[in-house]
Amino acid sequence: MHGQNQPAYQNLMPKPKNLTIHEGRFVLDAGFQVAIPDKSSRRVQITATKFIRRLTNRTGLFVKYGFPVGLKSSSKAAIVVHYNRSGDLKLYEDESYQIDITSKQIVISAKTDLGVIYAFETLLQLLDNDKDSYFFQNVSITDKPAFTWRGLMIDASRHFEPVGVIKRNLDAMLVAKMNTFHWHLSDDQGFRVEIKKYPQLIQKASDGQYYTQAQIKDIVQYAADRGIRVIPEIDVPGHATALVTAFPEIASQKQHYRLERNAGIFDPTLDPTNPKTYEVLDQIFKELSKLFPFEYVHIGGDENRGRQWDANSDIQDFMKKHNLKSNHELQTYFNVKLQKILHKYHKKLMGWEEIRTKQMPKTALIHVWRGKAGESLVKTVKKGYKAVLSNGFYIDLMLPAVSHYKTQLIPNQANLTPEEKARILGGEATMWGELVTPFTIDSRIWPRTLAIGERLWTNPEKIDIDNMYDRLFTQSYHLEELEIAHIKNRDVILRNITQNQDITPLRLLSRLYEPLKGYTRNKGGTEYQTYSPFMLFADACSADAPDALYFNRLVKSYLQSHAVKDKRAIITCLKRWKDNHHKLMSLRPNPKLVALYPMSASLADLSQSMIRLSNNLADIDTTFVKKLNAQYQKALLTYNDVELPLANSLKALINDWLAAKGLKSIK
Ligand code: ACM
Repeated sequence: MHGQNQPAYQNLMPKPKNLTIHEGRFVLDAGFQVAIPDKSSRRVQITATKFIRRLTNRTGLFVKYGFPVGLKSSSKAAIVVHYNRSGDLKLYEDESYQIDITSKQIVISAKTDLGVIYAFETLLQLLDNDKDSYFFQNVSITDKPAFTWRGLMIDASRHFEPVGVIKRNLDAMLVAKMNTFHWHLSDDQGFRVEIKKYPQLIQKASDGQYYTQAQIKDIVQYAADRGIRVIPEIDVPGHATALVTAFPEIASQKQHYRLERNAGIFDPTLDPTNPKTYEVLDQIFKELSKLFPFEYVHIGGDENRGRQWDANSDIQDFMKKHNLKSNHELQTYFNVKLQKILHKYHKKLMGWEEIRTKQMPKTALIHVWRGKAGESLVKTVKKGYKAVLSNGFYIDLMLPAVSHYKTQLIPNQANLTPEEKARILGGEATMWGELVTPFTIDSRIWPRTLAIGERLWTNPEKIDIDNMYDRLFTQSYHLEELEIAHIKNRDVILRNITQNQDITPLRLLSRLYEPLKGYTRNKGGTEYQTYSPFMLFADACSADAPDALYFNRLVKSYLQSHAVKDKRAIITCLKRWKDNHHKLMSLRPNPKLVALYPMSASLADLSQSMIRLSNNLADIDTTFVKKLNAQYQKALLTYNDVELPLANSLKALINDWLAAKGLKSIK
């Protein structure tokens, strides 16, 4: 399919900074050894062992040496690793590496063990084969990241994501050479971390779905073994329904609270005038600081509309007394107190960009997410703050990978000084959890986050979209060896819909349609609750429908040259789409399946008419065109929370064929 006919070194993602191709290849045989320094870190031992396992599983080789060996006694091993020291999981650490492949030996060298584990990932992507053998093309690679903050946020509040889900996604982050896992642990829909001193937090505000401190430690270690630091987020003072469900006395309006089950922005807000608020947060941050070694803690701070503050006369009096002129100033008062608490526990504060107010100290790290891409980021660094960009990397919007890939961290026209540029630490993909479950989250994160990974690691200047997608789909399938379920779970959902009948007709549709984009699927947060079904047809579809990408490319190529082979391939697609409806209708119906009939029928009807149009049949007249236009419009309606991303190419094709017969275009 995509890109698999080109040499492996052309499919690397992220692309390395420098790659030089040499003559010859290193051929793998069952006797290969991996030699690592004798006192290697746990990080290197784990990664080298896993590297061998992944290599043997890919090649089917019954290897003689299933574990890495010490370098001292095995300097002639096939793969040798050199590095100077263990890397620290802090900002600006050296993550560079070098790979030199000759026909005799593969040498990995790096300053830190972080470089080593990235080199192993690159090497796995370089594995190639012909009919007779598995091999690595002789190449030299020197590589290092463009940005020091390459993050993925997972929201475990809207839907809880169990330990196994987090771990497999950490594995995949390493493939994407991403080094920061941002864990959104509290929001209106749940408080997800055990705080020993306050058992009521998880008793009252988690539905029993939370991480124990032992699990947190385990995950932090698991992440560290993969070169990933973990930043926890407790979102305050807004997004606080879960917190006030457990502690109603620290809310800005005294009432009984229940966990939120809807999506949206809600009013429950912590009371910044109440000493008890800081007592609770102090304890939470005290316990979290022991669990998370990374220097930053995220305090959220987004989307506080301050309605409860406006409505509370005590809070209004407090503001007057302290000369706080706006809710922004009150929130800054609150943030500065949190910063002092965090400082006590040797942590620095990070928050969403709403915390960037006049009085906020410049030591705060600003997480930019709003407004026009780039603008807010530029403003933030010009004001003297360090910043991480998520604007442009909101993967919950279900936008195609290319839209994230095109996001510039340093806008060309921005006119930043070197110091201002240096304050842009990097970016972060945000996986908000309103519409994702443990079952579907992988397919919302991957493969698109690989494209974001390349934006953050390589930060390419020139981009080639087709080439990006070729590489994306190639590496996407490799993620399956890490138990990422983005591909296989599609079939499980489809079996759920057919009730274990043949899923072929549904699979075809699911490779063609895409879930509604932006936040339109949930219609302002009103359609789906946290307990709604997420095993629907839309959940089996992905943001870059692979067959739609293929068809759009095909049509583009056809319209350029009118090659007969392209036309044949297009007609083959249309026939498949037409015939597919019959196959779907032949399944024993159930309500979920029947709901898909209108969508499937609209595609089949349009395909049939387009085949007739392409066939030069005699009866193509204005009546036919009218019908065709109606069919085209109908196929583009949204059904079952999905859309057909073929509008432009279908219309261009139809109009090309109509023009050939001297007929007027459709609109
Ligand atoms: C956010 O998306 N509310 C940070």
